[in-house]
Amino acid sequence: MITLKNVILRRSAKVLLDGASVTINPGEKVGLVGRNGAGKSTLFALFNGTLHEDGGDFSSPKQWRLAQVAQNMPETDESATDFVVGGDTRLVELREALAATEAAHAADPDDHDIGMDLAHAYTDLADAGEHDAVPRAQALILGLGFKVHELDQPVNSFSGGWRMRLQLARALMCPSDLLLLDEPTNHLDLDALVWLEAWLQKYAGTMIVISHDREFLDAVTDVTLHIEHAKLTRYGGNYSAFETLRAQQMELQQSAFAKQQDKIAHLQKFIDRFKAKASKAKQAQSRVKALERMEKVAPLLAEADFSFEFKEPGNIPNPMLSISDASFGYLIEDEPPKTILRGVNRSVLAGQRIGILGANGQGKSTLVKTIAREMGALAGTVTEGKGLNIGYFAQQELDVLRPQDTPLEHMVRMARELGSSVKERTGEQDLRGYLGSFNFSGDMVKQAVGTMSGGEKARLVLAMMVWQRPNLLLLDEPTNHLDLATREALAVALNEFEGTLMLVSHDRALLRSVCDEFWLVGRGVVTDFDGDLDDYQRYLLDEAKRLREEAKLATREAAVALEKAAPSPQAAAQDRQQRSEQAKPLKRELAQIDERLAAAGTEKASLEARLANPLPTSEIAEAGKRLKTLNEEIGQLEERWLALSDRLEALTA
Ligand SMILES: Nc1ncnc2c1ncn2[C@@H]1O[C@H](COP(=O)(O)OP(=O)(O)OP(=O)(O)O)[C@@H](O)[C@H]1O
Ligand SMILES: [Mg+2]
Repeated sequence: MITLKNVILRRSAKVLLDGASVTINPGEKVGLVGRNGAGKSTLFALFNGTLHEDGGDFSSPKQWRLAQVAQNMPETDESATDFVVGGDTRLVELREALAATEAAHAADPDDHDIGMDLAHAYTDLADAGEHDAVPRAQALILGLGFKVHELDQPVNSFSGGWRMRLQLARALMCPSDLLLLDEPTNHLDLDALVWLEAWLQKYAGTMIVISHDREFLDAVTDVTLHIEHAKLTRYGGNYSAFETLRAQQMELQQSAFAKQQDKIAHLQKFIDRFKAKASKAKQAQSRVKALERMEKVAPLLAEADFSFEFKEPGNIPNPMLSISDASFGYLIEDEPPKTILRGVNRSVLAGQRIGILGANGQGKSTLVKTIAREMGALAGTVTEGKGLNIGYFAQQELDVLRPQDTPLEHMVRMARELGSSVKERTGEQDLRGYLGSFNFSGDMVKQAVGTMSGGEKARLVLAMMVWQRPNLLLLDEPTNHLDLATREALAVALNEFEGTLMLVSHDRALLRSVCDEFWLVGRGVVTDFDGDLDDYQRYLLDEAKRLREEAKLATREAAVALEKAAPSPQAAAQDRQQRSEQAKPLKRELAQIDERLAAAGTEKASLEARLANPLPTSEIAEAGKRLKTLNEEIGQLEERWLALSDRLEALTA
């Protein structure tokens, strides 16, 4: 069990948690939600021990094995498979132990004790799952969207996003009691995301996951922790349930607040009127006390939402861009060029809103990067319209930020570099004001970017892009890291944007709301996709099936392990055990209530019998009073009984 009691958590001057108390029970699947910068990742640092509470008590079981996704970019030429196998820390330890014992044995082959140790080392390793470690790792890698031929490729041959997927696979490989996942879906596309959901649903330990993806949270969590205004609140349900409960609570709180305000006004009026009158001074005093004692209901603080807009682009060339007979791909030293897309003939017109679709690794980013001039075409031509001004947003863009510098310094540098080519005002005060409109408060414009949260960084990149007044927006997964309110703001701004938009995103809601035509990147070519997003989802499923078939043929073993990723009988037994533990106190209380209800029922019956006969008035009054109390008690007991048996039913279902 993880418990927080009155925990205070700070980051420099910022108080992120103030008096947070909450319990997480073993086996619970928890979604940790809240706005960008609310303190979710910081709370993870408390959970994994890299940060300590500044007040109150935090405790989590010492013996729990922790798995989490390393945040660094792996730089190793180990193969993808070996790298992921290495995530099984127990296996690695036992392998090392075996190697040491083998060495000792080689040095002294006749030592009986060492011989015994060696035998133990072998069985321990077998127990830890050495025999199927490789297929288990490969099942994870393939599930997350890698191709069969990539299993043995070195880690540092993959691009950043893909290396982060390997980090995720490595964390899933590690046997654990507590799994911490901080926005695990950011580097995934739709099919890998769906696979991850299925995997997590079978995970037997305690899981806490941070995410801004509603559908994902609903699929994998049953408890929600919400951070807001330095308070942590627990809701017993998934994200949708949380939203409903919270809306109800806000309504209740709003009306409680209004009622209390009335009462306060009333007391205050009394005090004001009578404090001068000696005869009433005492009553006035007691009301002053009452007012002081009253626990104040907080007014509803409206969420600090924000909105922004793209400025009207100066001029819009038409066509924006034309691509003819082009091949796109990569030049590798001493090797023939690696062509990803060929025969590309496209033009991009003013005002088009194109969603770029395509399964994993088919070349969406290659296309986008070539258009963004990050790389050249291998053949053919890409002709730009006069005055084309591209606003490019890519995942790696976050790495372009300088960790030591502040948002203001970033803006000042950009303004200087672009010089007179932009019409914006470039004074420091103007830039501050501009950052303010993107929700960077006075303090934050001076905070080092390296210490900002993921969503805050993404918002800064967005702000910098908007400032450049682009007429062609090239957005590659722009919603990663952004909280729901900011995504909404982006969708609104994109809808009002007058230039041309090209968008790659796994955010179905965003694609739906801003694109009106789709390109499909797949099997080496770029084509128009005739259909809507639902058609596309069907296409994806077919494509995934095709790839799975391929994978099955290539590595039977891995495919078998993939199927077998079902929960072990052990996990199921553990789950039953847990449920029956949780049911015990419920059953106990139910039994007590039954007893009390029976007793109350008997007393009620006898009272009613007495009341049916003529009685002295004083006794009638007393019996009547008692009957009223009894009825109230019975009502409360019955309500409690219903609630308890509902919970019990849910547990034993
Ligand atoms: N070293 C630091 N100095 C100053 N402020 C910091 C520091 N580290 C974090 N912060 C601030 O603390 C707040 C919480 O950061 P945290 O990364 O926990 O947010 P988060 O809830 O994970 O947000 P996101 O959804 O964007 O990932 C942010 O406003 C961040 O700027
Ligand atoms: Mg975070």
